[in-house]
Amino acid sequence: MKRIAILTSGGDAPGMNAAARAVTRKAIYEGMEVYGINYGYAGLVAGDIRKLEIADVGDIIQRGGTFLYSARYPEFATQEGQLKGIEQLKKFGIEGLVVIGGDGSYHGALALTKHGFPAVGIPGTIDNDIPGTDYTIGFDTAINTVLDAVDKIRDTATSHVRTFVIEVMGRNAGDIALWAGVAGGADVIVVPEQEFDMKDVATKIAEGRERGKKHCLIMLAEGVMPGHEFAEKLSEYGDFHERVSVLGHIVRGGSPTARDRVLASKFGGKAVDLLKEGKGGLCVGIRNEEIVAADIVDTLENGKHKPDMSLYTLNQEISL
Ligand code: F6P
Repeated sequence: MKRIAILTSGGDAPGMNAAARAVTRKAIYEGMEVYGINYGYAGLVAGDIRKLEIADVGDIIQRGGTFLYSARYPEFATQEGQLKGIEQLKKFGIEGLVVIGGDGSYHGALALTKHGFPAVGIPGTIDNDIPGTDYTIGFDTAINTVLDAVDKIRDTATSHVRTFVIEVMGRNAGDIALWAGVAGGADVIVVPEQEFDMKDVATKIAEGRERGKKHCLIMLAEGVMPGHEFAEKLSEYGDFHERVSVLGHIVRGGSPTARDRVLASKFGGKAVDLLKEGKGGLCVGIRNEEIVAADIVDTLENGKHKPDMSLYTLNQEISL
């Protein structure tokens, strides 16, 4: 393969730039030409495509967001959108595509693969909800950003003897809440993967108060319900001086951690290796600390992301 392209799509994630940099630099090193597609699948269909040189990916490894910009583009779910995209790729003489993104982006890559165009997926989303990999690019940075906020919220919660419901992103997955909850010493973690009883939550807070505990932190994944709704339901069981903090898009920004930069660089390198060998229809991932590649059709159709629920159990054991 002589000419490849990269796009980032869906919600941006810290580390996407590091991945795009690795793809570009390694591909050029291997003698290929690299094109960058702006605004994800929307830019692909519109032909918003430019050649990337080594310098274009300089000074971006440390930056959050994506220098290729991103977009949500549901139109790419249609056959018409997909064929238009392939037409553009062919017009530019592009033979393979690297897609960096989350669930929706992978489905786009899957569609291209089914039309016979070689695409390789790199998992990039703060949600960590992609099958076929233990971790996604951006997740580590996101949980560290949440942790920073939790530590700060704890200061004010303690000072005022308040209960805080901290709502974090994650779409339908509880990974961010689980990891940041354990790391931040949350009293209660509430995630979509595990049913909960509001009465039990209230009892736990009340018991802590009786023992003289000053703060109470509830880490709530957005996939369960909005933070304000949760606090309102909790208040039916007593006055816990509750406050709500919705961290929102803050968790998506910021300079990527070392772990995310290294992971992104490894994924980028692997994607180029695959395309160089003419292999497409694959997604890269990390399993048990090893970089792997799997069939994208099989991964999306039969794989299922499972968060580490041992963290939930552990938190119950250590958050007395
Ligand atoms: O998938 C990443 C994510 O940040 C989710 O955690 C969140 O639910 C969603 O994207 C928000 O999407 P948008 O930025 O389009 O509002």
